Amino acid sequence: MTALNAGTDDLLRYRSEFPILERTTYMISNSLGAMPRAVAESLQSYCDVWATRGVRAWEETWWMMSREVGDAIGVLMNAPSGSVSVHQNVTLCQAVVASCFDFSGRRNKVVYSDMNFPSVMYFWEAQRSRGARVHMVRTPDGIHVPVEGLLEAIDEETLLVPISHVVFRSSYIKDVKAIVEKAHRVGALVVLDAFQSLGNVPLDVEALNVDFATGGVLKWLCGGPGTAYLYVRPDLGAKLEPKITGWFAHQNPFEFEIGPTKYGQPPYRFMQGTSNVPGYYAALPGLRMIREIGVERIREKSSRMTSRLIELADQRGWKVNAPRDAAKRGGTVAIDIPNSRDVCQELLRRDVLVDYRPNAGVRFSPHFYNTMEEIDRAIKTVDEILREMKVHA
Ligand SMILES: Cc1ncc(COP(=O)(O)O)c(C=O)c1O
Repeated sequence: MTALNAGTDDLLRYRSEFPILERTTYMISNSLGAMPRAVAESLQSYCDVWATRGVRAWEETWWMMSREVGDAIGVLMNAPSGSVSVHQNVTLCQAVVASCFDFSGRRNKVVYSDMNFPSVMYFWEAQRSRGARVHMVRTPDGIHVPVEGLLEAIDEETLLVPISHVVFRSSYIKDVKAIVEKAHRVGALVVLDAFQSLGNVPLDVEALNVDFATGGVLKWLCGGPGTAYLYVRPDLGAKLEPKITGWFAHQNPFEFEIGPTKYGQPPYRFMQGTSNVPGYYAALPGLRMIREIGVERIREKSSRMTSRLIELADQRGWKVNAPRDAAKRGGTVAIDIPNSRDVCQELLRRDVLVDYRPNAGVRFSPHFYNTMEEIDRAIKTVDEILREMKVHA
């Protein structure tokens, strides 16, 4: 295996854009992407606008930024301009979708997998008290999600199918197309959680024909906390009426009319109240960089890096909790290293930034800014830690 270096890996020219890479081995982009240097400048311009333009900032810049940021996210998943609204987190995006529907009729079934992110799961489970019949499909091995199980469960009474594109626990990539096709055949709609894919694994919402897609910018999009996105298929977006709503969604927000709302057009139609403006400023530099690089190139490098991690784990006899097939694997490799929890703590102390999850192990999530040497070094650091632990035992 030849090591990638700045001479052969074109993406490494972006390394200097990320201050934290000078001091750490940063392999935790599944949790929080590294901060681009340009974020500091961007947040400074937020301060400057607020300080100098005051309330005029809303009409001059801030109001339009919701759409600008939504479009900057949308272009990465082939969503048409205006089809992506921005919110504070994915849980709220799921709630906005749910609020467009009524669970009192016969079509009130929600089909999802136990490998969905817990917050998403907690939200849909809580809809039982509003009439939703929730059907959970279980994983056989903690890595894969049985597509057949989902396809079987999606029937004429199914309203919504909230699924993850890339599973956060194992990095398994779901066969979204098959799920969408079955859902549409029986009149159900698919809510795709793309948090662990967008920015690392190519996603084309039009080609997949998904109805909704949601995620956040703080992981693979290097955009910081506080900005999540909701894509709504344009034909649905024109007619759905979210009940979680507010003045941003009104067709004449500045008329401050009394009484029931009159829905405006997407993306504002799916928003509620005052937007998280500083989050927008933080999000834009990462989004621009990912667009400039292109997700296809990131994916190609990511597959090589995750394959290398698996090769190194196999050499040591450690269990890998990620799909073996690179085509079915996202950007994270969870490795069941002996004493994983303690090893993770020690890695963090030595500035190798990773995380630990029960039943998964230590999770390594390299991104386009990592080098192959860092992968090798991270695993060598684990070797050292295990050796020291043995000596101390
Ligand atoms: C797949 C997935 N969905 C959702 C979330 C969290 O969503 P929220 O923005 O509601 O915190 C995460 C991780 O934080 C995730 O990995």
